[in-house]
Amino acid sequence: MRHESILLIGGSGFIGSHIAARLAGQGRTVTVPTRRRERAKHLLVLPTVQVVEANIFDESTLERLLAGADAVINLVGVLHSRPGHPWGPAFEQAHVALPRSLARACVRLHIRRVLHMAALGAAADAPSMYQRSKAAGEQLMLEAPSLQVTSFRPSVVFGPEDNFLNMFARMQAWLPAMMLGGADARFQPVYVGDVAQAFVDALDDPTTFGLVYELVGPHVYTLRELVRLAGLYSGHQRPVIGLPDVLARLQAFLLEHMPGGPLMSRDNLDSMKADNVASGRYPLPSGWKATSLEAVAPDYLRR
Ligand SMILES: NC(=O)c1ccc[n+]([C@@H]2O[C@H](COP(=O)([O-])OP(=O)(O)OC[C@H]3O[C@@H](n4cnc5c(N)ncnc54)[C@H](OP(=O)(O)O)[C@@H]3O)[C@@H](O)[C@H]2O)c1
Repeated sequence: MRHESILLIGGSGFIGSHIAARLAGQGRTVTVPTRRRERAKHLLVLPTVQVVEANIFDESTLERLLAGADAVINLVGVLHSRPGHPWGPAFEQAHVALPRSLARACVRLHIRRVLHMAALGAAADAPSMYQRSKAAGEQLMLEAPSLQVTSFRPSVVFGPEDNFLNMFARMQAWLPAMMLGGADARFQPVYVGDVAQAFVDALDDPTTFGLVYELVGPHVYTLRELVRLAGLYSGHQRPVIGLPDVLARLQAFLLEHMPGGPLMSRDNLDSMKADNVASGRYPLPSGWKATSLEAVAPDYLRR
């Protein structure tokens, strides 16, 4: 069955915008709810995409948005929250309560097809609140009765609008050296275009129902190597100095309390206690061919 009308929650963000463009390219109707229409204005040029201001955390609003859709994609995620046990309130709202109410609403409205975004390393006993809450939300989705759910777990995602390599490039443009916590943590960065294509390919494919996929790039890098590459490709390579744990935690605490929102948090540091690389516990999408960082990052970081 071809799904024609997609509710794309979190569609205004980095990954969502790439998925929206691909779905629109296939002539599908896409509705993107956002807290601020301004944030999604780049999507308005896409012919079959509609942007609506809405509070997705309100269940009756969610039901209104779902009416008329035949599939839903949930990409909502946050990187930071105040602390809490087993996770903080912002993680609870975005990663757990939303999937719970979304699953409930889909069951009620008989919308069976759901694509869900988790994250690599999500586990009930993961070191960070982010990963623990992502695991709980994914489980709620997969266990919802009668839904056809596919969940995706990418490593860190790179692409022209990423907030990862671009941030390290920007920092090296004005800092004399990079003082780095978690410098030896390992990542397997995956290209945003490949992530978006995995969602679009799975949408109508019944062999993906009920499955979880890991999405990773072709190579593993330490954080130190990624920061060096960001510096090299952007033309501002600085010395990278790994911080011992105590100093890394102090730095994360300070960055957590930056005016204008955290640049990084102690929870981010916790998530780096476990390598963010393919675990082998879940498959890669069938025919997965990942784009290398070297093939695309030099171009956008130079700019
Ligand atoms: N980027 C990565 O490296 C990466 C890696 C692994 C997993 N993921 C997961 O992939 C998903 C998408 O990531 P992304 O990088 O595209 O994120 P993003 O650019 O920050 O976009 C997040 C989206 O969530 C929506 N949202 C709704 N309520 C929110 C709230 N209370 N707080 C924050 N955002 C809210 C935002 O919509 P409005 O602001 O328009 O309302 C936005 O469209 C997330 O679930 C993330 O955890 C990302």
